[in-house]
Amino acid sequence: MDKIIIEGGARLQGTVRSSGAKNAALPLLAATLLTDQECILSNVPQLRDIRTIDQLLTQLGSQLKFEDDNKVTIKTPQLSGLEAPYELVKTMRASVLVLGSLLARAGKAKVSLPGGCAIGARPINLHLNGLQKLGAEIYLEEGYIIAEAHRLRGAKVTLDLPTVTGTENLIMAAVFAEGQTIIENAAREPEIDDLVNMLNKMGAKIQGIGSAHLVIDGVGSLSGTRHTIIPDRIETGTLMLAAAITHGNVEIMDCRPDHLISVTAKLREAGIEVEESADSLKVINSNGRWKAVSATTAPYPGFPTDMQAQWMAFMSLANGASLISETVFENRFMHVLELDRMGADISIEGHTAIVRGVEHLSGAPVMATDLRASASLILAGLAAQGETEVSRIYHLDRGYEHLENKLALLGAKIKRVKAK
Ligand code: EPU
Repeated sequence: MDKIIIEGGARLQGTVRSSGAKNAALPLLAATLLTDQECILSNVPQLRDIRTIDQLLTQLGSQLKFEDDNKVTIKTPQLSGLEAPYELVKTMRASVLVLGSLLARAGKAKVSLPGGCAIGARPINLHLNGLQKLGAEIYLEEGYIIAEAHRLRGAKVTLDLPTVTGTENLIMAAVFAEGQTIIENAAREPEIDDLVNMLNKMGAKIQGIGSAHLVIDGVGSLSGTRHTIIPDRIETGTLMLAAAITHGNVEIMDCRPDHLISVTAKLREAGIEVEESADSLKVINSNGRWKAVSATTAPYPGFPTDMQAQWMAFMSLANGASLISETVFENRFMHVLELDRMGADISIEGHTAIVRGVEHLSGAPVMATDLRASASLILAGLAAQGETEVSRIYHLDRGYEHLENKLALLGAKIKRVKAK
């Protein structure tokens, strides 16, 4: 297995570009199943999760052509399968995103029930309840969810929680439903807006973009389209913290500062200078130690759970103590023990981590447990004294496009050691 080795202490400086958003690319690719015409997506990040959905869509009958410049041409003239198999769902839970589009296009879908995962139980009951409201019959057979509907009917669905992929599945399912569908308490993440924008370009009638109240009027068919995927706000946020934790001066181009308001506010509160333009952010840390700033994760526009582990690495070196509460997932603190092995002083009480800032971290061999935990350990390694070796970085490769190359271009002493 590949490893990442970091010699800590280098101050990051220069300019870097954001990649396209993983969590927008996945539902957008799933949504191309809704048409038999050609779709061209640009700014698709090169990631392991994208290769997984490529495999899944290919099995379902899609023809995908990836080009070097992050462009994908995709066409599904006919569906040749209706199943998301266990082997793919277990490597990427977002495979459940084909449930809504398959059901809408073919009237049937068979998707392996995802089990628990490293960050929590993560059930999909709200996806299924919503689809049932739209008239789907749902049953479970040998670990698979089978959803069937001759034609879905518009209905009002009120989500108990603003689930991100649940909202996306319901939007895709409702696009061809007879009449009007209303989704209340819909998730408001920017990746959902990106999906709605693309579907509307294809001919869907979805109103309420950016709000928790979505209204979808069913249409008969969708056409192909060209669409550019939004920048990855979590990658941008991670790069912002890489600049801050190394006392750096970094400009991040081609990003969406308006998607990172909660992260920017916390950084400023900690005493870090952040300059914004419409599509770039500059992060400058010219001070000594930064202030301790507590954070509680929440659905968008709150502080993202996908930035919690990285914020904790940053806070582990702050001047003072902070509380980091995780309210979205029940078990997303696996990075704590690894950070503590690097000299951090973090303890957990229920859903809250108490982070007492230390003066320095020391490099150590550490193990990534999930995607964002791996980013957190890399941030800690960038700031630590000595060498940090991060193993199990296949987690990182699921969701960050060449992160080590981007950091190296900014002056980090970081390299990947390939598995023999
Ligand atoms: N939930 C339920 N029932 C459901 C659906 C969700 O109880 O039917 C609960 C979950 O267990 C969790 C909470 O609701 O406690 C929120 O989960 P949500 O469904 O919003 O998460 P998701 O759609 O599975 C997406 C991202 C995650 C990100 C979360 C929260 C994608 C492909 N994944 O997951 O991204 O953490 O929203 O913002 O969009 C990552 O990129 O590292 C990642 C984990």
